[in-house]
Amino acid sequence: MRRAVSKAIFPVAGLGTRFLPATKSIPKEIMTLVDRPLIQYAIDEARAAGIKEFIFVTSRGKSALEDYFDWAPQLEAELRRKGKTELLEILKSTTMDSGAIAYIRQQKPLGLGHAVWCARRLVGNEPFAVLLPDDVIAAEKPCLQQMVEAYQETGGNIIATMEVPDERTDAYGILDADEDMGTLVSVRGMIEKPAPGQAPSNLAVIGRYILTPPVMRHLNRMRAGAGGEIQLTDAIASVIGAGGKVFGYRFRGQRFDCGSKAGFLQATVAFGLARDDLRDDFAEYLREITALGRAAQ
Ligand code: G1P
Repeated sequence: MRRAVSKAIFPVAGLGTRFLPATKSIPKEIMTLVDRPLIQYAIDEARAAGIKEFIFVTSRGKSALEDYFDWAPQLEAELRRKGKTELLEILKSTTMDSGAIAYIRQQKPLGLGHAVWCARRLVGNEPFAVLLPDDVIAAEKPCLQQMVEAYQETGGNIIATMEVPDERTDAYGILDADEDMGTLVSVRGMIEKPAPGQAPSNLAVIGRYILTPPVMRHLNRMRAGAGGEIQLTDAIASVIGAGGKVFGYRFRGQRFDCGSKAGFLQATVAFGLARDDLRDDFAEYLREITALGRAAQ
């Protein structure tokens, strides 16, 4: 057996300007799909994959995230007094064991690679996961768990991937595939946000990674790349140059881009329809408005 992947980094320092004015006072990771904040989906997925230590790379204005994962004694006492056991149960998923969660500040917005590098001392010389909470993935077996299994088999760096339309390559890291083995794709290079027509493939990086210690070491030396930022994509690509193995992993599941308004709305509809307590009425409502061909005003 290879060393277990027990640490995960959650880069949550971004300003979330695409969701202004909401993100003027709440971190975008606290925005809710139905009734659970985005970050809760990422945490649950990491837990299911066996992650024990959760490292948040935050920035100014993100204290609501720290409060969210804190014990809330007053609220719990009140719910207990009222006999609301179901709600107490729901709250359990939001509390963390002492010492299981750490917050580090990324003082300057220098890019995703830099955010990950900020966690280097907490990660140490171990394989680690990175989850970007904007990418929400609905799957029977949680995506990161699928990837941990692939890591146990291959020992290489594993990057979630899916095909995107040719004209969308400039929104993603793109893989240069070496050998396509179906679920796994061995990778010989990676480019961050290539212009349409200049991409080596249409296999896009989705925000789930299992990375090995050399990636962190390469981040020590990285300079600004695409968009003037220190890119995680570049550090992973340079590991390939140094003989490291990198695989794209075609996960089974549906990914929602909750970094965009359209993606967030789609996820809201999909997760609403997946809920036993909402499905019937909500589906009925959707049928009505689509049949009438008009949206709610
Ligand atoms: C980041 C990564 C990019 C990846 C994307 C997935 O970009 O830099 O390689 O494809 O996440 O969501 P961002 O969306 O933060 O610009």
